[in-house]
Amino acid sequence: MNKYILSPSILSADFARLGEEIATVEAAGADWIHVDVMDGHFVPNITMGPFIVATCRRITKLPLDVHLMIDEPERYIEALAKAGASNLTVHVETCPDIVGMLKQIKSLGCTAGAVLNPETSVGAIQPALPEADLILVMSVHPGYSGQSFMPESIAKVSEIRKKLNALRSSAWLEVDGGIDTGTLPQMKEAGATAFVAATAIFKDSDGPAAGVRSLRALF
Ligand code: DX5
Ligand code: ZN
Repeated sequence: MNKYILSPSILSADFARLGEEIATVEAAGADWIHVDVMDGHFVPNITMGPFIVATCRRITKLPLDVHLMIDEPERYIEALAKAGASNLTVHVETCPDIVGMLKQIKSLGCTAGAVLNPETSVGAIQPALPEADLILVMSVHPGYSGQSFMPESIAKVSEIRKKLNALRSSAWLEVDGGIDTGTLPQMKEAGATAFVAATAIFKDSDGPAAGVRSLRALF
């Protein structure tokens, strides 16, 4: 199994050429494809849902890393699993029973992730740690790609890394928001093992393949 994962977020891809964009990052060495589902309630933006997940499933063999920025995620997990999601990551802020939700996701045949917003304390994710296959730390306020990295998220990653190690958990510790060649090494040093990037890959001036290669070179 890979030690580190690069998960390009298609939020910054050119959707007129989605197939080509995904094929390009796959050929360049992407490990997963990150799909940002937003509902206009939990976050201000509206993006994609099961239909696009199913489209991605036809385009690539890579695992689909689906990040749910939606209220009441329990209403959509089954449709997203059926559409071909490999991993479903839900925000702790949207789940009164995060452990139950992770179990439900696993019962649908997906791996299960829990994510916390920049203003949410590590304590909120504590009960999820033994059950999660993945913990995601947001390093921007969710909603849009292209925002500036929040340096305070580095300490959060270190704190969660310590807790996962104490549990002898092999869960991925993923980071999302403002990840580029400058911030990736800092998050890796803090203990992150999976890295989401939209702008740094799809808006690379030399194209997405170069974006993937320059981030992967830091693993
Ligand atoms: C933000 C999304 C991210 C976003 C990252 O709400 O969850 O996955 O696409 O974009 P960059 O890498 O540009 O910060
Ligand atoms: Zn995301």
